[in-house]
Amino acid sequence: MDKRRFLITGGSQGIGAALVAAARDAGDDVVFTGRNEELIARVAAETGAHGMRADVALADDNARTVAECRARMGGIDVLVNNAGFGYFAHIGELQVDKMKSQFDTNVFGLVDLTNRVVPEMKERERGDIVNIASTSGIKGHPGGTSYSASKWAVRGISQCWQAELRPHGVRVVCICPSEVQTNWGGKTGRDNPNKLFASDIAQAILSTLAADRRALWPELAVFATNPWKEA
Ligand SMILES: NC(=O)c1ccc[n+]([C@@H]2O[C@H](COP(=O)([O-])OP(=O)(O)OC[C@H]3O[C@@H](n4cnc5c(N)ncnc54)[C@H](OP(=O)(O)O)[C@@H]3O)[C@@H](O)[C@H]2O)c1
Repeated sequence: MDKRRFLITGGSQGIGAALVAAARDAGDDVVFTGRNEELIARVAAETGAHGMRADVALADDNARTVAECRARMGGIDVLVNNAGFGYFAHIGELQVDKMKSQFDTNVFGLVDLTNRVVPEMKERERGDIVNIASTSGIKGHPGGTSYSASKWAVRGISQCWQAELRPHGVRVVCICPSEVQTNWGGKTGRDNPNKLFASDIAQAILSTLAADRRALWPELAVFATNPWKEA
């Protein structure tokens, strides 16, 4: 397989960091983003990938990210829109400002960055875009108004991009993980061998990319087989 050039947002920890490591293990070039300098430096040192501080919610940062990818790798073959965070509140107590801020990252940032990457993919008639949604974007739950809506939006956006980009040879894959034991939402220290690890999602992403270019997996939900089993 030819060496691929990855841009992974939110690669400083969790699912993104596991994917940075897996792509580097596969011999690929990787630029990844994050906001925490210490975490970025650690992942870069461990994997040999190029980490940069860039907030996906900021247009100027997205312009800088794409320019850095061009300068370092000559372009982007695989864009992974992974950066995201959770804000949970029941209706009646929901702070709309916080919901807007969540959409700035989980939805508008993803759109702004992809806007900047897609023209070159269309020109080359080749490219892969992986959007990380969630099973929360498939089924709503208490407290999920903001987060579920943001991930539902990512699924809808992914379907629109599939319709627009398939004729240009660009694949768009939407991944919907169930609970993954990262530090997401400040839930640190989970280590149940029966629940999903970030590496399981990284493996799922690479599997969708490994399919022959003739084949597109539009959406993939990933669940743990038996997460109710005690460790
Ligand atoms: N964990 C789960 O159970 C689960 C389930 C389904 C879907 N997901 C989705 O999977 C994705 C990754 O989640 P995770 O579990 O790996 O979470 P995580 O461990 O908290 O990692 C999130 C990553 O996103 C980055 N990030 C957040 N906001 C950003 C922004 N505005 N600009 C740039 N980077 C930003 C963080 O960077 P810094 O820390 O450096 O700021 C970090 O690298 C998210 O989209 C999440 O919604 C997670």
